[in-house]
Amino acid sequence: MINKILFFPLVSFFNSKKPKLNLKNKTILITGASFGIGESLTRLLAKEECHLILVARSIDKLELLKQELQNNNAKIDIFVCDLFQTQEVKNLIESLKPFTIDIFVSNAGKSIHRSIFDSLDRMHDFERTIHLNFLAPVELSLALIPNLVKNKGHIINISALNVKLLSAPKWSAYQSSKSAFDEWFSSVSIELNAHQVATTSLYLPLVRTRMIKPTKAYDSIPALLPNEVAMVILNAIHSRKKYYAPWWLTLAQLFSILFRPLLEWIMIKLYNKGFL
Ligand SMILES: NC(=O)c1ccc[n+]([C@@H]2O[C@H](COP(=O)([O-])OP(=O)(O)OC[C@H]3O[C@@H](n4cnc5c(N)ncnc54)[C@H](OP(=O)(O)O)[C@@H]3O)[C@@H](O)[C@H]2O)c1
Repeated sequence: MINKILFFPLVSFFNSKKPKLNLKNKTILITGASFGIGESLTRLLAKEECHLILVARSIDKLELLKQELQNNNAKIDIFVCDLFQTQEVKNLIESLKPFTIDIFVSNAGKSIHRSIFDSLDRMHDFERTIHLNFLAPVELSLALIPNLVKNKGHIINISALNVKLLSAPKWSAYQSSKSAFDEWFSSVSIELNAHQVATTSLYLPLVRTRMIKPTKAYDSIPALLPNEVAMVILNAIHSRKKYYAPWWLTLAQLFSILFRPLLEWIMIKLYNKGFL
């Protein structure tokens, strides 16, 4: 019940209403399809008569998923790609050339929770997050845009509501890379929408996936389930709606602008006491 109130309209409405879809002959590219939200979305979309192109690093997991879903309606192709690696992204783009993608779900992502004082010799944290959470989806989008314009296609950005709020300590690598893509996407959305390409941003709260497992403090905090997020994405594909976020995000944004000095003071106190 608490989740239904807290995450409305992400859970209550979309999960109770199954949208009627016509995805026949649509080709949908999902990055990060091997685990979490991407895996749940793959399972949901596999019931439709569409073509799914799944991307991730874990070949075993992708093959298992393909095998498990082979008696469903979707045709599934898998591509192994480490989106950290510039050359692998280029190879993926080359491999995708024979396909006409209608919907790109930019979902692959990595979060890092680490103090800046533990990151002084870890420049690679920032390089990896910027590659995976920003540069790779930009490069993939650039390659797909010409066909998306032809097909009046759709790009879905799986973002985090944190990008709209005051940055919390120890999340600098994740927050900056997710925010970079969100800003890029906001800017290009105007141009894409003008060319009939739909754009959707999902500003998600916590989602109970392996991504949040290492942060013990999250164990007792309300979170969405990956299959609930998959339903929201399915709804976005159907409705081509621009934004999805919990109802209180705008209030929280306003609060974080108006009370920024107070919130920063509280965060320093909590940080010093070891709560953050
Ligand atoms: N969980 C949350 O609380 C939360 C909240 C807000 C937003 N999000 C966003 O939701 C999206 C999905 O996250 P999730 O929670 O489902 O996490 P997850 O369970 O850890 O899944 C992440 C996916 O990204 C893929 N991936 C990671 N690094 C990759 C790389 N270098 N190259 C290619 N694929 C890579 C992973 O596959 P392989 O490991 O097989 O490569 C996996 O399929 C992310 O963009 C995340 O920022 C999550």
